[in-house]
Amino acid sequence: MFRAASRLRRARPLQRSRGAIIPMPTIVRSVSTTRPLWKDDGETKPGQFARTDPSINMDYPAGWDLPSSNPVRRYRRTLKSFSLEGKVAVVTGGARGLGYVMTQALVESGADAAIVDLDGEEAVKSAKNLLEHFKGENPDAECLPTITAHTSDVSSPTSVRSTISEILTQHNSHIDILVTSAGFTETFKAEDYPHDRMQKLWGVNVDGTYFCAVEVAKHMIERKRPGSMVFIGSMSGSIVNIPQPQAPYNAAKAAVRHLASSLAVEWAPHGIRVNCISPGYMLTALTRKILDDNPDLNAKWTSLIPQGRIGNPEDLMGAVVFLASGASNYVTGADLRVDGGYTVT
Ligand SMILES: NC(=O)c1ccc[n+]([C@@H]2O[C@H](COP(=O)([O-])OP(=O)(O)OC[C@H]3O[C@@H](n4cnc5c(N)ncnc54)[C@H](O)[C@@H]3O)[C@@H](O)[C@H]2O)c1
Repeated sequence: MFRAASRLRRARPLQRSRGAIIPMPTIVRSVSTTRPLWKDDGETKPGQFARTDPSINMDYPAGWDLPSSNPVRRYRRTLKSFSLEGKVAVVTGGARGLGYVMTQALVESGADAAIVDLDGEEAVKSAKNLLEHFKGENPDAECLPTITAHTSDVSSPTSVRSTISEILTQHNSHIDILVTSAGFTETFKAEDYPHDRMQKLWGVNVDGTYFCAVEVAKHMIERKRPGSMVFIGSMSGSIVNIPQPQAPYNAAKAAVRHLASSLAVEWAPHGIRVNCISPGYMLTALTRKILDDNPDLNAKWTSLIPQGRIGNPEDLMGAVVFLASGASNYVTGADLRVDGGYTVT
C-alpha cells in the first residue's frame, strides 16, 4: 500500500488555479508492432484487437501523448451539491485510462481516493501523480487529499474483501463512493473464443463489479451510511460494435448495466444509489495508439459518431462527479451514455 498524503487541515476557499494538464503515468507494455492490428480488407482475424493476444505487442504511449483533462476550476460558482468534500471514493482500475481520469475528477471535486488496481506499481505512480498535480494546481490549499493505492484482482472475492478492509483502515473507516472501471475487452470471432479468456473477461468485468459493489455495500449498510456507486459499462452493452467481433464483451457490459439497475432497487432502502456510465469509444493511451496505427478503423468509428469525434477521457469527468455526488440524489438505476450520440442513431 502507498499512502500519498494524509489529511492536514480543513480547506479554505481556493484563491487561484491554473489550467490543468495531468501527465498520465508512462506505462511500458511489451514493445513493437509486428503486424497491423487492423486492415480494412473485410476480414477480421481472431484476436486481432485483443490486448491479451501474446502475438500483439505495442508500446503504451508516453504521458505527454495523452489528451489533457481540464477539470472545472473550483473558484468558479457551481452548485454546492456537486462538491465531494469529506467523501472517500474507491476507484477500481484507477491506475490508468478512464479510471485514472475519473479519479482525478473526484479528487478535484473534493474527495479522498483509493485507487484499486491489478497493477499495484502503476497505482502507486498514479496516486503520486494525482497528488503532485493537485499541489501544483492548488498551491494555497490548506488541506491535501489523501490518495492511497491498493493492489487487487477484482475478479477474486478474497482479494476484493481484503482490499476493501485495507481501504477502510486507511480512510478512517468510511467509503462513500465506488467507481468500477477495472475491465478489459478482447476481440475474437465467437466460434474461436478461447473459453478461459471468456471466463476471465466475465470474471473481471461482471464478477469484479459485483464483488466490489457487494463488499462496499456491506460496509455502507452496516454503518448506516448512504453512498453512491457508478459502474463503468460501455455502449457495447446496448449496441453491437462494428466491425470488431466481441460478443462476450458486449454481453458482459449489458450485464454490468443491468446489475446496476438491479442493485439500485435492492439497496435503495439503505440509501445506496447505483448507476451506470456507458462510454462510447474513448481515446485512452491504448486506443489512441491503435487508431493512429489504423487510420481506416479511426475513420470507420468516427463516421458512426454524430458528434464526429472519439471521446476524450475528460468527457467522463462531469458524468462521474454528477452521479457520485448529491447533485444526482434522486437518480438511481440509470444508465448515462457518454458516447457522442453513437447509440441514438
Ligand atoms: N476506452 C474505451 O474506449 C472504453 C469504452 C467503453 C467502456 N470502456 C470501459 O471502461 C473501463 C476502463 O477502460 P480503459 O480504456 O480505461 O482501460 P485501461 O486498460 O486503460 O484501464 C483498465 C485498468 O483496469 C485494471 N485492471 C484490469 N484487470 C483488473 C483486475 N482483474 N483487477 C483490478 N484491476 C484490473 C488495469 O490494470 C488498468 O489499470 C473498462 O471497463 C472498459 O471496458 C472503455
